[in-house]
Amino acid sequence: MVNQIKENFNNFMNDNYRKGIILAGGKGTRLRPITFSVCKQLLPLYNKPAIYYPLTTLMLSGIREFLIIVNPGDLNSFKSLLGNGEHLGITISYKIQKKPDGIAQAFTIGEEFIGESCVALILGDNFFYGNSLPDILVKSSKEKEGATIFASEVIDPERYGVVDFDKDFKVRSIIEKPKDPKTNFAITGLYFYDNKVVEYSKLLKPSKRGELEITDLNMIYLKNKELDVTLFGRAIIWHDTGTFDSLFETASLVKSIENKQRSRIGCPEEIAWRMGWINNDELMSSIKKYKGNEYGKYLKDLIYQENMF
Ligand code: TTP
Repeated sequence: MVNQIKENFNNFMNDNYRKGIILAGGKGTRLRPITFSVCKQLLPLYNKPAIYYPLTTLMLSGIREFLIIVNPGDLNSFKSLLGNGEHLGITISYKIQKKPDGIAQAFTIGEEFIGESCVALILGDNFFYGNSLPDILVKSSKEKEGATIFASEVIDPERYGVVDFDKDFKVRSIIEKPKDPKTNFAITGLYFYDNKVVEYSKLLKPSKRGELEITDLNMIYLKNKELDVTLFGRAIIWHDTGTFDSLFETASLVKSIENKQRSRIGCPEEIAWRMGWINNDELMSSIKKYKGNEYGKYLKDLIYQENMF
């Protein structure tokens, strides 16, 4: 699967350039007391830190330049986990969000990082999984104009931003936590924008709850007829892992998939290697850190299996 992505990615690399922001701040009130001392994006989702999953989701769409936005007290922990990304053949820089003033603030904090590029934003506590996901991401990443948001069917739409669309799947409206939702499609924490996002985000005013809302930003794109929605079918799983139940369910899901198949989910070293961003020697240097544990053994087997076939 990753080889196909690599091919697709190489085909458009020359005429597309998108950077990635991972938003990993926030209050984490729903996960207290755990989040009194550790932020939720660093909590384990089974056998990896939660942030590995959104990071690899963006890597699978071909993104190699990342900004991670964090709370002031968490910067050193993220740096010791991911460094500058060199070991993954990517670049990672960091910025602090002084306080959780809203998701859409990512684009003013990230203005310098974004520069002239298109950008993808992913929330650091979101989990996406599915065979067809990489193809969808690569295709959406090719869009140079406007915004693409992704929606997934849920049983409790009133908890989310909900998208309503016409028969041609053109977005009609987005309503935050509707009492009477028109569809069951919740907007996920993954957004692809063109470079106008920086300018548009500066037009936003804090909402009643005092935050710069991502829904208000998407509404600007909608009003300008520049907003597309991609609906994830049932073969793509999306979890927001910000509650105890979803944290537990996502970890169980990863465990059961990984224990049934030989492949791992959300392993950045593997994806970097399969994308050709690091070679065997570079992967071997990463493996040294694992001193023969299961994670290291899995990575070593990748090289071994490649040489076998
Ligand atoms: P939320 O889960 O909506 O908010 P939260 O992290 O404050 O958690 P809680 O509701 O339990 O208090 O945030 C979604 C993601 O966006 C999460 O990864 C945190 C991140 N985030 C920021 O980094 N900065 C912000 O200002 C906000 C609102 C969220």
